[in-house]
Amino acid sequence: MKQANLLLKSILFLLTCTTTLIADSSFEAFLKHPNKYFIETGTGSGDGVQRALKAGFEQIYSIELAPHLYDHSRQRFENESNVVILFGNSTEVLPKILDYIDAPVTFWLDGHYSWHNTARGDTNTPVLQELEIIKQHPIKTHTILIDDVRQFGTVEFDFIEVDDIIAKLLEINPKYQISFEAGLIANDILVAEIP
Ligand SMILES: C[S@@+](CC[C@H](N)C(=O)[O-])C[C@H]1O[C@@H](n2cnc3c(N)ncnc32)[C@H](O)[C@@H]1O
Repeated sequence: MKQANLLLKSILFLLTCTTTLIADSSFEAFLKHPNKYFIETGTGSGDGVQRALKAGFEQIYSIELAPHLYDHSRQRFENESNVVILFGNSTEVLPKILDYIDAPVTFWLDGHYSWHNTARGDTNTPVLQELEIIKQHPIKTHTILIDDVRQFGTVEFDFIEVDDIIAKLLEINPKYQISFEAGLIANDILVAEIP
């Protein structure tokens, strides 16, 4: 019995460590790419917003399509005056936010269907439509972080390949430098930035 308790405690400890590591990896990416604004597609339960607050962004916007996740995150950040959680499909809400943007943004494009209790828009991932919307904005020097590179080319990402995404990014600005940083696993975050 004592040994079983010890085993359970060890498993719980390992799980906690893993969760912390996962959370901290995108936090490092946020810290490395500061801008006045942080815009996230796919709020989920709000952990990305929490990391963006910790990273020190001045104004944070996040869009969520699942009503229950939107409600949860709106309540979670109701006392944070620089956080705005918006309900809806990123393809409809993003252009409305961009109307107010007057300086470079760090985008965290992470709004895709993720099974369980998450929402699905017209497609599993709206990432190419989101990039088309960003392309319409007059500022061409935003930093764009795209999560879950490991899923590019699979059904989860509607078989969109990394080359399709890079081609779209270069339409926004041919001077974008593309690199990959650690997320859930190594090289899981695509970064487009102007050096
Ligand atoms: C991987 S989770 C987000 C995790 C969060 N960004 C973080 O860093 O902790 C993806 C979220 O995107 C949402 N989603 C899916 N399609 C969407 C869309 N078209 N517009 C906005 N949100 C969407 C899902 O409901 C889900 O909550």
